[in-house]
Amino acid sequence: MKTIEMAMVGEPLNVIDPEIAATLEEEKRRQQENLILIASENLVSRAVLEAQGSVLTNKYAEGYPGRRYYGGCTYVDRAEQLAIDRAKKLFCAEHANVQPHSGTSANMAVYLALLKPGDRLLGMDLSHGGHLTHGSRASISGRYYKSYSYGVNRDTYLIELDEIRKIAREIKPHLIVAGASSYPRRIDFVGFSEIAAETGSIFMVDMAHTTGLVAAGVHPNPVSCADIVTATTHKTFRGPRGGMIFCREKYASAIDKAVFPGLQGGPLMHIIAAKAVAFKEADTPSYKNYQEMILANARALADALIGLDFNLVTGGTDTHLVLIDLRNKKISGNEAVELLEKVNITINKNVIPYDPSGANDPSGIRLGTPMLTSRGMHPAQMKEIASLINETFEQRNDENRLAIIKQRVNELCREFPAYKNSVNNGDI
Ligand SMILES: Cc1ncc(COP(=O)(O)O)c(C=O)c1O
Repeated sequence: MKTIEMAMVGEPLNVIDPEIAATLEEEKRRQQENLILIASENLVSRAVLEAQGSVLTNKYAEGYPGRRYYGGCTYVDRAEQLAIDRAKKLFCAEHANVQPHSGTSANMAVYLALLKPGDRLLGMDLSHGGHLTHGSRASISGRYYKSYSYGVNRDTYLIELDEIRKIAREIKPHLIVAGASSYPRRIDFVGFSEIAAETGSIFMVDMAHTTGLVAAGVHPNPVSCADIVTATTHKTFRGPRGGMIFCREKYASAIDKAVFPGLQGGPLMHIIAAKAVAFKEADTPSYKNYQEMILANARALADALIGLDFNLVTGGTDTHLVLIDLRNKKISGNEAVELLEKVNITINKNVIPYDPSGANDPSGIRLGTPMLTSRGMHPAQMKEIASLINETFEQRNDENRLAIIKQRVNELCREFPAYKNSVNNGDI
């Protein structure tokens, strides 16, 4: 007779835990049957999933390759060293730490390494497109440090370096953060670095959203002009959920100590192995084509939306995302999310700069193309999706029309499957 322990090791998930097995299947179906336009989501490869679900999850490995506190680290050392070497090559970095569990952990580790509580931090305003970790009061970054923010111009919605220089000269920040969650344009990292040099500030770029674009060389790489660069490995990069930090050699020891033991314990070795796989995938011509297509799709989506009288913040995009001001469409962010959900289109609400409404029901939505591009879609589909979105809003009170739109969405989902024959997945 099998012992319970043996059963735990040997039986498949649907036998051990049918509820969770069914939930995973349903989530897989949701991903398959919805057009997902959430700018920070993507569809990882079969190889990345395999590494994530591997036996490396069993291993404790506090420390760094060759300097661990536990025995038995030969193979996890190899996995982490591969990840580090590949990451450094891909992003042309002097030093890489691949252990942060997330983008937030990466940012916190930088602050812990380089700032003292009460030091001055200058980052982009959350309500103008910055991230919580750039000094918002809701985050530890805005409580332990004296945080100041810059925003975008009220007319153009663009970041203006002259304005940032003025603020930086006045407050003399210890650290300046560039990077955003919902800014659709390129950021002048070199211009920021010149301001930081002038005010004696450390210059950090948080490229969480654009990591994949940077890896493929289709977006400026901030590693050469910033002291520190943080990134996420999910989002455009299309790797496992996680963070990483690049820095100049002079900051390497402080950064490594801040990640471990400063902020984290044992690294997630299965995730680090999956990061290594994603770095390898990113170092290929097909990945460059993929990232170029993300941009082409975002531009096509933007152009089609503009043609349908949507008001795009900054008038367009240079990245994977568009930010839409919905006020002329007489629909709120919440209503837009709910309506599109009815026709199986998944998006997120978003504040727009100088939003007259609050964050709970903002005036905007954010759309991104990484996930649909992974499914093999092209500008022709983006154009069609823009009209489906427009029609959903215009026909919001006509259930029959909404049913027809949903049917078309279902057809598109079948034509461009998430898990069968998608550009990176084989047939999971
Ligand atoms: C600019 C930026 N930095 C950091 C993060 C945080 O990443 P994570 O969700 O992995 O903590 C995000 C996530 O949305 C982001 O947009």
